[in-house]
Amino acid sequence: MGFYYDVILPRLCHMAMRNRYLVPYRQRVIAMAQGHVLEIGIGSGLNLPFYPAGVRDIQGLEPSPRLIAMARYAAERSTIPMTLIEGSAESIPLADNSIDTVVTTWTLCTIPETAPALTEMRRVLTPSGQLLFVEHGLGPEERVRKWQDRLTPIWKRISGGCHLNRPIRNLIEQAGFTIAQLETGYMKGPKPMAFLYEGRARPN
Ligand SMILES: C[S@@+](CC[C@H](N)C(=O)[O-])C[C@H]1O[C@@H](n2cnc3c(N)ncnc32)[C@H](O)[C@@H]1O
Repeated sequence: MGFYYDVILPRLCHMAMRNRYLVPYRQRVIAMAQGHVLEIGIGSGLNLPFYPAGVRDIQGLEPSPRLIAMARYAAERSTIPMTLIEGSAESIPLADNSIDTVVTTWTLCTIPETAPALTEMRRVLTPSGQLLFVEHGLGPEERVRKWQDRLTPIWKRISGGCHLNRPIRNLIEQAGFTIAQLETGYMKGPKPMAFLYEGRARPN
């Protein structure tokens, strides 16, 4: 895809996602992980320090080889067994009903095709499994939504495909999940980029 996508963007992603204001969200959501975990779009592995003792192993799926290399470095500091898989959420190379917890943090904004990706997440989850998420997306006010729609075409081009205006709750529900827990609200930062959905969903 070129130097910007292959080299610059992964570094920018790592720097942006290290934002200290994201840490409390990571801590709260990752604390609920258990069993066999699949993290979608693991990036540079910034959630790894927050996984609790109840996690048996973590598989990290990530399309960017540069980010996988960074996640590998982070995994060396973790005591939980970890496998990194180069791949895409639209086609998860894991068996049906093999995962207890799927984690996605600030990733549904960037996955090109969210419907097949969420269907894949549901497929790999056991019937009693859970989807844990922290995502930014469509805000509640018309004024903010208009800005999100206006900015998304430009934002996508500089940010590696990130959409500001995805209706995260609807996308999760439409893929066959029931929302079991949900907090929404603005984090610190410009409103079009800062409306967060944090929670847990169960496969129907
Ligand atoms: C904003 S970063 C978030 C990284 C990480 N989840 C975090 O919380 O720090 C978005 C991530 O989604 C990944 N991504 C993009 N398209 C993807 C796809 N089709 N399947 C899985 N991950 C994808 C990117 O490579 C990147 O790691």
